[in-house]
Amino acid sequence: MKLLALCITLAVTSLSWANHTLEPLPRTIQYDRDKAALGKRLFFDPRLSKDGTVACVNCHTPQNGADNRRYSIGIQDREGHINSPTVFNSAFNFRLMWSGRARNLSEQVRMPVHNPIEMAMDESRINRYLTGTPSYEEAFRRIYHRPANFGDMSDAIAEFEKALITPDSRFDRFLRGEIDLKPLEKQGYHLFKRLGCITCHNGINLGGNSFQKMGLINPYTWRADNPDRFSLTRQPADKNIYRVPTLRNIALTAPYFHDGSAPTLEVALKKMAYHNLGFDLSPREVKALVAFLKTLTGKQPEILKEKSP
Ligand code: HEC
Ligand code: HEC
Repeated sequence: MKLLALCITLAVTSLSWANHTLEPLPRTIQYDRDKAALGKRLFFDPRLSKDGTVACVNCHTPQNGADNRRYSIGIQDREGHINSPTVFNSAFNFRLMWSGRARNLSEQVRMPVHNPIEMAMDESRINRYLTGTPSYEEAFRRIYHRPANFGDMSDAIAEFEKALITPDSRFDRFLRGEIDLKPLEKQGYHLFKRLGCITCHNGINLGGNSFQKMGLINPYTWRADNPDRFSLTRQPADKNIYRVPTLRNIALTAPYFHDGSAPTLEVALKKMAYHNLGFDLSPREVKALVAFLKTLTGKQPEILKEKSP
């Protein structure tokens, strides 16, 4: 009965989503250029890690804002068990991290910095490094009017991340009426709406704005160390519930899912439909959906092309 009720709810919601139109990314975004330039330098600086080898950019590369590894690798080649999400367009996500445990970009910064398998640094060592590096100390004093410190560093990195938008994807240009999509891509877009993908992947980032279950209809493997809502709340109902990932630039960020278990988009879509919608996609549907998802690749963020200070 429960399953039937769920299916009916999904069917009804996907009907109401069928006419939903998505929103293009803005072409430009307002941000503080001085802070973002400082944040960019920090984002690329491996000395923010304990052994001086791992910068944010190691796991969030300029190509796609993520890496193409199943699991990210931190200091001393320590491997985690979580796939790194892209930082591109992440300012539009309502929460950050798979579990949604960071409420904003600046709050997120301390998480990788302190994580023993990522950068393994503590606040006082960071403060010493920043105040002891004259070019940083000068920049922080000029911008924040006080000695360099962890809080302002997080603010500067967040400002840089805000600028990491990837506008003008073919899909966005289609939404603005500038170009038409190819027939297969359009079929994929219609399927995306009609099959119900859009019930969870919607809003400006086609995701990033709600918590949803992985395995809503057909259960998905659950591990005690999953980075899900349960890891925060310890409520059994929160097992395998994640902040829905964005689908922007999705063709560039294989492998997929929090556990990096889907090596290609094709595999990811088949699993998604089976676990969350309760049916198998036909090869034709997979092809059309992949063609549509490829139109979501935007331009590389401008700020990454600018010369560093
Ligand atoms: C060793 C690899 C690694 C390093 C270094 C790293 N990250 Fe991450 N990043 C990850 C992983 C893995 C996640 C997902 C973790 C989770 O959800 O529990 C993540 C998540 C994020 C997110 C959330 C994106 C979203 O939409 O949810 C942001 C933003 C981010 N990292 C920024 C940074 C910044 C800034 C730094 C440097 C201070 C950094 N990362 C360093 C691997 C890394
Ligand atoms: C009930 C909500 C829901 C529905 C419906 C849904 N998804 Fe998802 N989607 C999610 C969640 C949650 C994740 C993250 C799962 C994980 O990492 O374990 C996800 C992940 C993905 C990913 C991988 C993203 C990444 O960065 O790893 C792709 C691709 C995807 N979905 C596409 C689709 C498509 C296409 C459809 C329709 C066939 C669809 N989804 C239907 C909730 C949903």
